[in-house]
Order: sequence, then structure tokens, then C-alpha cells
Amino acid sequence: MEDDAAGKEAPRAPVGTHDVLWPESSRWEQLVSSFARSAGRAGYGLVVTPLIEEVRLFRRGIGEASEVVGKEMYELVDRGGRQLALRPEGTAPVARAFVQHRPAVPWKAWYATPAFRYERPQAGRYRQHHQLGVEALGSPDPDLDVEVVSLASDFCKELGLQEIDLRLNSMGCLSCRPGYVIVLAAHLHDRRDRLCGAHRDRAELNPLRVLDCKTPECRAVSLDAPALSEYLCDECREHALRVRQGLEALGIPYAMDRLLVRGFDYYTRTTFELRSRALEAAQDAVGGGGRYDGLVEAIGGPPTPAVGFGIGIERVLLACDAEGCFGVSPPVPHAFVVDLAGGGHARDLTAELRRAGLRSQRAFDGKSMRSQLRSADRSGAIAAVIVGEREAAEGTVSIRMLDGSGTQEEIRRAALVGRLRELVARASGDGSAPGA
Ligand code: HAM
Repeated sequence: MEDDAAGKEAPRAPVGTHDVLWPESSRWEQLVSSFARSAGRAGYGLVVTPLIEEVRLFRRGIGEASEVVGKEMYELVDRGGRQLALRPEGTAPVARAFVQHRPAVPWKAWYATPAFRYERPQAGRYRQHHQLGVEALGSPDPDLDVEVVSLASDFCKELGLQEIDLRLNSMGCLSCRPGYVIVLAAHLHDRRDRLCGAHRDRAELNPLRVLDCKTPECRAVSLDAPALSEYLCDECREHALRVRQGLEALGIPYAMDRLLVRGFDYYTRTTFELRSRALEAAQDAVGGGGRYDGLVEAIGGPPTPAVGFGIGIERVLLACDAEGCFGVSPPVPHAFVVDLAGGGHARDLTAELRRAGLRSQRAFDGKSMRSQLRSADRSGAIAAVIVGEREAAEGTVSIRMLDGSGTQEEIRRAALVGRLRELVARASGDGSAPGA
């Protein structure tokens, strides 16, 4: 509730949300574009769906009994009385878009999206976090699972992450899982007193949730619980085998984890998680996903097998920080225009250089030469382009290298773009000239 005192304070970002400012945001930019490139190479195209969806999409798709829908979803009633939710994840909205538009299959889509969950905020756990993900709809082929898992795993490797474990399991299908759930429920019933408070009376409602529970009590009971892998039907067993063979063929290390059930009801067969050994155990999952062959049908579409994953941007960057890889390296300007003749030259030259594909900056507010040169140095630019009264009158500019050498040359203004391209190519060491 907003009281008077709070009303007078400057508004702040809501608890559990965070701003991403420059230069940290340059890492986000690079992360998203590198993900777009990897996904694009594998034939995935960008999909953008609304942040708000009908509540019933998530109730039907993810399951009412799941924590995400039952306890964490941001729900709202709009001014027209519609029951809406801020998306807690990216898969159900993509499946909804598929049902609505019926694109040709296999339909392979990637996304970068915020997701909202009313969780207890802590390091690496937010109420608004951001995910990069892919979803591939329309094929039951286990090689598609391998493609999806390898995309996630290779992406982490390309960022330089080495302390990542890939955990794999199979959730079975609607024909074999119910039999296992009965056996599991009986196991849990016999050990009810040893479960955590939250699960003691509710384990029967959704016994698989107990396997996902992180409390020491439930973990202890789960450790000697029967394994779903022993109750798989022949088709699920073969599917799992083919996925494992595929990962081995591609040289992707993995470990089987029979307790990996994940928090959404839509999973069938393959489930996987990428965990960072460099992060705290409670928030060590940088990404996760799996197959969800029943989701499209559950939300009113035709039977459509599908598989995908989501990677948490904040988590993956925390893992990068912990491992000291993929640091912040915003692009530096190529040139910083120092104008000592009224400011009009800085206005015109920065525009000209930018149109020619060169990154150029300038100072504002008629600053002194010293102050402008200090800003040029701080900007990290390769060269300062200086226009004094004399250069302005003679139609020239001075170029001062900012590499500490003090080298300076004066050239005709018309030759500036060409000369800067040469200097930038030399400074970048690879001979490539921007905008050439
Ligand atoms: P998820 O495991 O709930 O899966 O989320 C994916 C990733 O998002 C997690 O591994 C984690 O890195 C990050 N994440 C989740 N919740 C938070 C949070 N509160 N704060 C920070 N990061 C978080 C899904 O959402 C599925 N839709 C993935 C999927 C796609 N399965 C099939 N296709």
C-alpha cells in the first residue's frame, strides 16, 4: 500500500526487478545477438508474442498444481474484465501462437523475453527475469531433442563457460508415467512423516513435485525412491537411448539425473538442465528444457510433439562473472570530434562519420579544449578529430591518435573518412575498415 511518506519518495524499481544500464547492457546486447546467430544457423526464426496472455493458457498448459501457476503467477483483470497473466515463461505462449496461426511444421522459433514469477527475490532469483529460448514444434524425432540440447550446451561453451553440468532425464509419456506415479505415491505415503511440512499432506496430489523439492527432508526421501527410468515404456526407453547416443556422437558430456523432473506439468520424455558449478546450489540452473508432446493438444491444438529450452540471461551472466568469462566490453568510438570553433563542426562531422559507418562522439555545452580532450580520452576513442578556428578557415582537420603516442596529422576535411578508416583498420589489427 502506498502511504503518504512513500508517496513523496522517488519511485523505485519494484522489489525483485532490476535495471540494466550501460555498459552492462552491452553484454546483454551481445548475448542476445550471439544467441540469435546460433539459433539462426540451426534454422530457428525470431518469434515475438505478447507479455500478457489469458490466464487459462497457463492453467491448462503448465498445470494448476505447479508452483509457477499456483503460487507465483502475476494475474490481473484488465479494464474490460479479462483475466490475464504476465507470462511466467516462454513455452506456453509460443505453443499458443502455433495453435492460433498453424505455421508449417517443423516450426522452429527462438525468443528473448522477460518472464514474471512472484518468487522470494535473492541473488540470481528475480520477480522479472529474462530468458533466451528456442521451441521446435511438429516432430517427435529424438534427433530434434539432440539438436535442442546441443544448441543450449554449445551456446554456454561459446560464452567461455566451462563449469557447466548437463543433467538429463526422461519423464516418460502419458502411457507409462501414470503407473510410475502410483508406485511413487505409495513410496511417499509410507514415508509421509519424513517429508517437509509443505509436502506431508499434499504429496499424493502431485507426487512428482516431491522429487523436485529442495528441502533436506524431501531430498532424503527422494534419494531412495523408485526411479522413473525403470518404468518407461519401450518407446520412451528407445527415445531416451537415441537421445543419449546422439549426445555422445556430438561429444556433449552429460549425466543422468533420475530426480530431474522440473516444475511444469507439460514435460514428456526428455528433460534436461544446465547447472553451473560456479554458482550457489539454490540458483545454479542457468537453463533447462525438454520435450512437451502434450502441450499443444492441452491448449486446444492438434496433437503436436515439441521440444525446447530456456536459458536465464541473469543466471548465465552470473555464471560468466563467477568464471571470469564473457566480460563487459562495450564498443569504443572510432573518433571523438573536438570542436573549438563554435560546435557546428562537431555537429556536422559526427553526423558525416556516422553516415559513413564510423562510430563517432563529441562533447556538448561548449566545453574548453582541455575538457573536450579529456572526454575524448575517457571515451576510449581511437583518434580525436580536432577542428580549431584555423582548421575551420582552411578546410582542414587535425587527427590526434589517442594511443598515448601523441602522433598528430593535419589533412583536408574531405579526406577525413578515408583516413579514419585506415587508422581504425590499423588499430583493430585485422585490417578491416568499418563502413568501407
Ligand atoms: P525454467 O527452468 O523455469 O524453464 O526457466 C529457464 C531458466 O530461466 C532457468 O534455468 C533459470 O536460468 C531462469 N530462471 C527461471 N526463474 C528465474 C528467476 N526467478 N530469476 C532468474 N532466473 C530465472 C522454463 O521456463 C521453460 N519454459 C523452459 C523450456 C522451454 N522448456 C521447454 N521449452
